[in-house]
Amino acid sequence: MSPPELVPEPLTGRPLAELGLVEVSGRRRGAPLVRVHGLSEDPAYLRALQEGVSAAAPAGSAIEVRAADAERRQAAARALKAHHRSPGALGSTTRVYLVGSGKGGVGKSTVTANVAAALAADGQRVAVLDADVWGYSQPALFGVRQPPVAVPGLMLPVRSQGVRLMSIGFFVDDSEPVLWRGPMLHKALEQFLADVYWGADLDVLLVDLPPGTGDVLLTLAGLLPDAGMVVVTTPQTAARSVAARVGRMAARGSLTVTGVVENMSGSVFGSGGGAALAEELGVPLLAKIPLDEGVCRAGDRGTPAVLGPASAAVEALKALAVSLPAPRRSLVGRSLPLFT
Ligand SMILES: Nc1ncnc2c1ncn2[C@@H]1O[C@H](COP(=O)(O)OP(=O)(O)OP(=O)(O)O)[C@@H](O)[C@H]1O
Ligand SMILES: [Mg+2]
Repeated sequence: MSPPELVPEPLTGRPLAELGLVEVSGRRRGAPLVRVHGLSEDPAYLRALQEGVSAAAPAGSAIEVRAADAERRQAAARALKAHHRSPGALGSTTRVYLVGSGKGGVGKSTVTANVAAALAADGQRVAVLDADVWGYSQPALFGVRQPPVAVPGLMLPVRSQGVRLMSIGFFVDDSEPVLWRGPMLHKALEQFLADVYWGADLDVLLVDLPPGTGDVLLTLAGLLPDAGMVVVTTPQTAARSVAARVGRMAARGSLTVTGVVENMSGSVFGSGGGAALAEELGVPLLAKIPLDEGVCRAGDRGTPAVLGPASAAVEALKALAVSLPAPRRSLVGRSLPLFT
């Protein structure tokens, strides 16, 4: 059993002591006293913290859990920033994937959520950045809708099913349209990377893109030069337009394509779209995910299908998650060995 100081703070995974959120000192009515300070005021959060500390503290300890005051939050923020990775640093150990497509509704968000949940269930440290600012869907796919906790200068991702989530949907009302374009959009995406505590230990960051190859893809490809793009298509999609654009970006060195995922395979509409697109781009076809009512229903329920009963689609999604090739590192901004 680990002592209470080492219990991870639930939103960041960092030990409580490292964030200055625990005091094991003094006694109350003869029992050891453990004082714990939480970063959120949410009752469920405080309960989870209480349970975690109770399990680790010596039997019979008195445990007092409360929300941290401003000074403690400031100190916790400072400690977190020591571990914090800016976009430039994300590439060193974290594998980053941009999940995109030529057209809408092909299953990018569904594939992203399921791959993330499968990797988390597999013990990896995973985050999802919902970069579909106009049509965000990760909050619904994970069944969470709560504003992220912030400490001074840093936002903490919402955690669901072991996945760290950040989405504009956590901040705005569904009825409120997000109208960002151009510089505003760039700034917002930059902040989602720089001002969010993704965690220095992150294994995989999946970025759910809006449909098409517009501003968001361009911005993120620039901010995350080591990311690999995973292109999702349906079997029947005529792949020409996305292939052309993505291919041009890749040829210029501004984008690395990891592979293609064919989703809704076996549907009555056609077949072969995934293989054709993969061939055009000169990248592997990573998976063919069958059309499956369970996948759709799980999305509506807010629990990714890979966490539910087995099916051919669930197996294909799990296999995709564990077999995703590491993105090729780009040469952007690096000096070539030739000149060193
Ligand atoms: N393999 C599948 N089997 C059945 N339904 C699926 C499958 N994949 C996705 N869907 C359903 O298709 C719809 C569109 O999926 P999703 O929202 O993931 O697509 P998207 O590409 O992210 O769309 P957008 O371009 O609007 O962001 C959803 O209702 C989803 O549940
Ligand atoms: Mg989507």
